Amino acid sequence: MTTRLTGLVGWRGMVGSVLMDRMQAEGDFDHIEPLFFSTSNAGGTAPAWAKNETRLQDAYDLDALKRCDIIVTAQGGDYTSDVHAKLRRAGWAGHWIDAASTLRMKDDAVIVLDPVNLPVIRRAMAAGGRDWIGGNCTVSCMLMGVGALFKAGLVDWMSTMTYQAASGGGAAHMRELLTQFGALNAEVRALLDDPKSAILEIDRKVLGRQQALGGAEIENFGVPLGGSLIPWIDKDLGVGKRPDEAGWGTSREEWKGGAETNKILGQGAGFGTAAVPVDGYCVRVGTMRCHSQALLFKLKRDVPLADIEAMIANDSAWVKLVPNTREDTMRDLTPVAVTGTMTIPVGRLRKMAMGPEYLGAFTIGDQLLWGAAEPLRRMLRILLEA
Ligand code: HSE
Repeated sequence: MTTRLTGLVGWRGMVGSVLMDRMQAEGDFDHIEPLFFSTSNAGGTAPAWAKNETRLQDAYDLDALKRCDIIVTAQGGDYTSDVHAKLRRAGWAGHWIDAASTLRMKDDAVIVLDPVNLPVIRRAMAAGGRDWIGGNCTVSCMLMGVGALFKAGLVDWMSTMTYQAASGGGAAHMRELLTQFGALNAEVRALLDDPKSAILEIDRKVLGRQQALGGAEIENFGVPLGGSLIPWIDKDLGVGKRPDEAGWGTSREEWKGGAETNKILGQGAGFGTAAVPVDGYCVRVGTMRCHSQALLFKLKRDVPLADIEAMIANDSAWVKLVPNTREDTMRDLTPVAVTGTMTIPVGRLRKMAMGPEYLGAFTIGDQLLWGAAEPLRRMLRILLEA
């Protein structure tokens, strides 16, 4: 393995910090010469795990960026939009590994999730691919759980109903959720302390406080999330379309479910094959950093449940089959159980009332780990080992 100059951009933010932790835990820095970039503090001191390059570089300095064999960025979409094309135009032919969605659907970019699509990655590498983009967190976590069914060609279509955490919006969103919970608790603390107080009185006061939340209290989500939910994530793609037109009423997050799932698997538009329809509703809930999803599959044929369980359980070292019992579900299939771990539990597996080809499942993933940081650092290792 060669040591290569690897630029790191956006390493201080939330995804970037998780990425740095994972890279340290996996010894990735043993294989690279890191060059730390900053959008605001060029010339400052690089973090302690820098080697020879101990000064922060200007993240907008094309000449500094051009020195890198590989650039890994978790700086966000605005940075990618600003810098990537300029860098390519300036003749840089290095590898660009990116967490942002900006380049995901470009023809020459691959959405990387190697436990699911290593063959797609390898084909693109052989063809001279240079842009390696992390997928939408919900899609990556879903495919880490049930990718086996897609790989086996068993899926006729899939519907996903998501329960997405505050962290998907960013660090400020997580703080806002907790601030809202605190405000609601403060509103009724005296009543909670009194076991004889009336629950409907508590409920009325909580609702009053929720409806009065405003200004900085809802700056990020726009409406209260604490004790509520928001069944719309990201932009409205249906604006301007007729109500009976395809795409009307679809959120951008919902569109990503279908578009990215197929692109990760190397099928659908751009690959000359049929796409598997994937659609559903994406909902923001008051959890911290785990995205959960209830899935409904229409399988191409009636496969025994035991076979399906075995396929899912044997797909990777990270997927964990949770027996469909109340006790196992309560213990292992919650955001609290999964947060901070690399485990992707898949549970509630059962045939649905619609018929033997209809399969239900529930899965959870830490959206900062498999949903963001992990596919990037694994792509870095794939490039280093090539
Ligand atoms: N768009 C996702 C969300 C996170 O808002 O939860 C980033 O993939």
